[in-house]
Amino acid sequence: MLSTADEENSPAALAGLLRDDSLGCIWLIQDGDAAVGYVVLTLGYSLELFARDAFSDEFYLRETYRGRGWGRQAMAFVEDAVRSLGVNSIHLEVTRPNTTAHRIYRKLGFEDRQHHLMTNWIARPSGTGPPRIDRVPELGSGTE
Ligand SMILES: CC(C)(COP(=O)(O)OP(=O)(O)OC[C@H]1O[C@@H](n2cnc3c(N)ncnc32)[C@H](O)[C@@H]1OP(=O)(O)O)[C@@H](O)C(=O)NCCC(=O)NCCS
Repeated sequence: MLSTADEENSPAALAGLLRDDSLGCIWLIQDGDAAVGYVVLTLGYSLELFARDAFSDEFYLRETYRGRGWGRQAMAFVEDAVRSLGVNSIHLEVTRPNTTAHRIYRKLGFEDRQHHLMTNWIARPSGTGPPRIDRVPELGSGTE
């Protein structure tokens, strides 16, 4: 579910990605004409991994379409598409408690490289920071 900060910031981030192919790609997974899922991949570069790399930022299928091989087919399609762009690795981020996703991704070929992804926001979008807490004027400080 999107938080308020996501709702505010995601449309702008999405528009930026749609405007500039060099940032990455978005694929819709469709059943006929109905969109039932999506994959969002952003592009990077890694000396450590010897070439262009990519980050699977979103990978989602509607619940009734899960567990039927569609995710595997979608990821295989995406791998082929980005291989032709010179990408030789795809990363993704999964929360530690989401062990189901860990299992699915291992089956899809992702491995835990025992690296801990850390993030330093150097320009944090509004609404995603810690709450600002102002001191309420002291009770009894009025003039009555
Ligand atoms: C992640 C997701 C896109 C995968 O798509 P999917 O269609 O369900 O995956 P598939 O059916 O193609 O299965 C891929 C592999 O994972 C396995 N798998 C699927 N569901 C599983 C589950 N609940 N537990 C363990 N393994 C599972 C499959 O057996 C398959 O392996 P195999 O081909 O060797 O048998 C989809 O499940 C999803 O949208 N989940 C909710 C969103 C989410 O959790 N995203 C990831 C968090 S970042």
